[in-house]
Amino acid sequence: MDSILVTGNGPLSGSIPIAGAKNACLALMPATLLSDEPLTLTNAPRLSDIKTMTALLESLGGEVSRMQDGKVLALSSHDLTSSWADYEIVRKMRASNLVLGPLLARTGQAQVSLPGGCAIGSRPMDLHVEGLEALGAEIELKDGYLHAKAPGGLKGAEFQLRFASVGATENIVMAATLAKGTTVLTNAAREPEIVDLVKCLRAMGAQIEGEGTSRIEIQGVDRLNGATHQVVADRIELGTYMLAPAIAGGEVECIGGSLDLLGAFVEKLDAAGVSVEATERGVKVSRRGDRVQAVDVTTGVFPGFPTDLQAQMMALLCTAEGTSVLEETIFENRFMHAPELTRMGARIEVHGGQATVHGVERLKGAPVMATDLRASVSLILAGLAAEGETVVSRVYHLDRGYESVEQKLSACGAKIERIKE
Ligand code: EPZ
Repeated sequence: MDSILVTGNGPLSGSIPIAGAKNACLALMPATLLSDEPLTLTNAPRLSDIKTMTALLESLGGEVSRMQDGKVLALSSHDLTSSWADYEIVRKMRASNLVLGPLLARTGQAQVSLPGGCAIGSRPMDLHVEGLEALGAEIELKDGYLHAKAPGGLKGAEFQLRFASVGATENIVMAATLAKGTTVLTNAAREPEIVDLVKCLRAMGAQIEGEGTSRIEIQGVDRLNGATHQVVADRIELGTYMLAPAIAGGEVECIGGSLDLLGAFVEKLDAAGVSVEATERGVKVSRRGDRVQAVDVTTGVFPGFPTDLQAQMMALLCTAEGTSVLEETIFENRFMHAPELTRMGARIEVHGGQATVHGVERLKGAPVMATDLRASVSLILAGLAAEGETVVSRVYHLDRGYESVEQKLSACGAKIERIKE
């Protein structure tokens, strides 16, 4: 398993290209199952999660060709041969569950393994099931798999999500595009990845309104066509790299992202003393003083503070002047980076969903272990500002969601390299 060696090396300077959004692409790829015509995705990120989704779609009879070194994906599911999403794939990547809605809508059946728990929480699928049952699906749990069928096709319905789940919104919206009649989904998730998915579905001929709001209305159609769609920029990668100059000092321009993707994250950076400026090409970030100020952060559904940036923000606040309180309201166990940051001299007290961070002047490099995707990159950010060397092990977590971290940060003056094991 590879590790990453980071040596604190002072202020950064330069620009970082932001890739297409992993969490948009993982919903856009299953959309190919809704049509027997080709779907082309441009600006696709080159990540291991995309390879996992590719393997899943191919196991169903889909075809995925990677072009331009993986930045363009040509997908087609003209001849589906299976509706079985195997546990071996789903347990590795929860987003595999996003084939459930499209398979049901296209073929009238799907057998999708429950993902099982993961490092950050139990992550059930009850909201997905309730929504699809509202559309007329019959879903039964057997041997750890959801056996879903809709022999007479799905029917439009009104449905309110108990929680604005991103994945449940995506599965229900995709299924509703081919249902008979109108579906009105309320308390829908509003994340930019939902907006991007709807743009693509509309290009395929779907009739949908309200994306980005809590109420999405879908008029079912008989069939969807092929389309070409550009994947939206990755707001979590963007936010992650905006924190690099905030923690290490200097100035970095993130190319290809925009502030409207970031919700409450930008205000929090401003309150901490980080200046953020929209430019022609993206977003320019620098720290106003020698040290950021403590701020309290509560994660929430979009446009609240993104849970996927909580670990990275904690790394910054470990070096802030003052005490910050972070509330994690989306996942039940998303502070596993805290004990690793503590090994670097951070002072953090975790009680349930709340972490209190007492800022310290300087962190100290140490061997630390990545536990999940966003925790891994928060340790790298901490290493940028730490005195001495930090070795982050188990970086296979990192490769799920970040393309070429070493190259992107080295280009801005960071001392960072991958140690192949
Ligand atoms: C998406 O996961 C993202 N993944 C996650 O990003 C992100 O953290 C999450 O949304 C929240 O923004 C992808 O888009 C591939 P949810 P998803 O359904 O759809 C509970 C990353 O780091 N819940 O909004 O699985 C669930 O347990 C990943 O890139 C139910 O209780 O998130 C969790 O506590 C991590 N029942 C909360 O809702 C359900 O049926 C949020 O889940 C579904 C969810």
